[in-house]
Amino acid sequence: MHHFHYQDGELYCEEVLLSRIAADMGTPVYVYSERTLERHVRVFDDAFRSVPHLICYAVKANSNINILRRFAEWGTGFDIVSGGELFRVLRAGGSAEKVIFAGVGKTADEIRYALAGKKARISIRANPDVDPRTHPYISTGMQKHKFGVSLPEARDLYRNTRAFSNVEVVGVQCHLGSQITEMGPFQEALASLRQFVLELQSDGVALKYLDFGGGLGISYSTEEPPSPAVYGETVAKATKDLELTIVLEPGRVIVGNAGILLTRVLLKKNQGTKKFLVVDAGMNDLIRPALYGSHHQLWPVREQASQKMETADVVGPVCESADFFAKDRDVALLEPGELLAIMSAGAYGFSLSSNYNSRPRVAEVLVTGKTYQVIRRRETYEDLVRLEELPS
Ligand code: LLP
Repeated sequence: MHHFHYQDGELYCEEVLLSRIAADMGTPVYVYSERTLERHVRVFDDAFRSVPHLICYAVKANSNINILRRFAEWGTGFDIVSGGELFRVLRAGGSAEKVIFAGVGKTADEIRYALAGKKARISIRANPDVDPRTHPYISTGMQKHKFGVSLPEARDLYRNTRAFSNVEVVGVQCHLGSQITEMGPFQEALASLRQFVLELQSDGVALKYLDFGGGLGISYSTEEPPSPAVYGETVAKATKDLELTIVLEPGRVIVGNAGILLTRVLLKKNQGTKKFLVVDAGMNDLIRPALYGSHHQLWPVREQASQKMETADVVGPVCESADFFAKDRDVALLEPGELLAIMSAGAYGFSLSSNYNSRPRVAEVLVTGKTYQVIRRRETYEDLVRLEELPS
């Protein structure tokens, strides 16, 4: 559920007309709904109310410091994977006590920055070898992936933790992958983690946390992922008697459907029988379709009087054939100048954007009720070259 809706033929984010944001800010622009974000945090948190738990929002999904600040105010912790993400969390006012620093490779500098001389409280990432049945680029919990260590190997590590005087072992972590739309893989992983934790506990390892990672999918088009409530109840039920604090690292399920990328039609073009709608956003602004073949609904900002559609590719101006938002999609008969909302773009949208083709990165705005706030200004041409140096 989200707060993007039509009223009198016009698309709104909460109570703000998207056409007004486009007129004020120019396009393309990312638009987020604060009420949607807040509701998603509350619903997710509520799903785990029957167990001691901590929600650590996965910063990589959307790392704007204004959004992180809201999350910190709403009580979440943060899951980070780099020194840069730690810097953002601290800048946003997040509490370092509620930060999990994961990642396949940390540099010595990152470790020094994050620990600042403290003894690290750590979890070992267990790889349960479960197929999450999602896109291969976002599957992580199988043996063939670079992530984590196998359960037998992890058990040996836990048995030897007394040998590591510089760390305190407090938990077990696991993450299967992203955009998981069925409970099966989660249940399979929970069963083996449960067994694993029981073994560790009988080995005498004192654990406080079981971190089940993120990965709960959202509906981009016709997917019907489990609700946070079902997911939460399942996790709670499988882990309750372990007497651990359950940690979750949701990203997409919190921010994905809370944001859109607002773009304007530049022109229409026919190539033989093929039709193209060229818009001003490109793959550098939202790379998910190019990288994962992901589906994003396209909603016209002005509802069309005619229900007539045409089959077209919706593409950007970037010099790559992978620069598309939809292929052979039935889209409204939009004319140049009209606005289109690329839906479900709040997660892994701006955070994966780049300056490719020397395109300034777009602005981001956060809508709250009747007003909105610019949370990142549009980059300028000067910004593009700011760090480059010409020999004098
Ligand atoms: N925890 C860990 C250890 C992760 O690796 C990830 C995501 C998350 C939590 C958050 O997962 P989520 O709840 O958002 O599914 N760029 C891709 C997604 C990459 C996910 C990477 N890891 C996409 O746009 O689909």
